[in-house]
Amino acid sequence: MKYTKITIPDDINTVKEIATLAFSSTPDSTIKDWFSFDVMEKNIAHSEGVCIKAIDEKNNIIGVIYAQQENPINGIEGIEKWVIILSAVHPKATGKGIGSGLLNALEKYARKINIKKMFAFTNKGDTQVINFYKKNGYKDAGWIKDYQYGKNNSAVFLLKYL
Ligand SMILES: CC(C)(COP(=O)(O)OP(=O)(O)OC[C@H]1O[C@@H](n2cnc3c(N)ncnc32)[C@H](O)[C@@H]1OP(=O)(O)O)[C@@H](O)C(=O)NCCC(=O)NCCS
Repeated sequence: MKYTKITIPDDINTVKEIATLAFSSTPDSTIKDWFSFDVMEKNIAHSEGVCIKAIDEKNNIIGVIYAQQENPINGIEGIEKWVIILSAVHPKATGKGIGSGLLNALEKYARKINIKKMFAFTNKGDTQVINFYKKNGYKDAGWIKDYQYGKNNSAVFLLKYL
């Protein structure tokens, strides 16, 4: 498995396909309700975000992870604090370490550009995803009531110092 930054525009359609497929097997609302690929592209163009892909031995994209500055308006703190917005592995390939490989590659890139803190968040009851981050060294950072779209959709936050 190879982990590298996506190429824009060449990879965009496949990234959309993998992300849509990965979330279609979760209880989350449709991905377009909570994620904008256009904004992702703009943030990447301004070096305010990065999207890493996992490529299998047949050169197919099998997973992606996207993270960005949490909030540039907060000056240095906003710049050094990033947040993972999307992590997605093809449903046929989950549980084989690809998500962890993507996280690793993302953190390696983030350290290189001096990011100090990486946050991740997910639905409050989503034990599988919470375990995924904990297994990779992320620690509980609290939760926010009704943070996400929809009713009773509170979010738990996880944090890793890089
Ligand atoms: C969450 C996700 C990115 C993890 O990627 P992955 O390649 O399955 O993760 P890894 O193989 O590196 O790690 C596996 C661990 O993650 C957890 N996990 C989370 N979702 C899982 C899934 N669908 N299948 C298997 N393990 C999953 C388990 O705790 C597992 O640990 P275990 O094997 O000791 O039980 C992937 O499962 C996925 O795309 N899920 C759907 C989309 C989603 O919910 N994304 C996260 C919110 S942005």
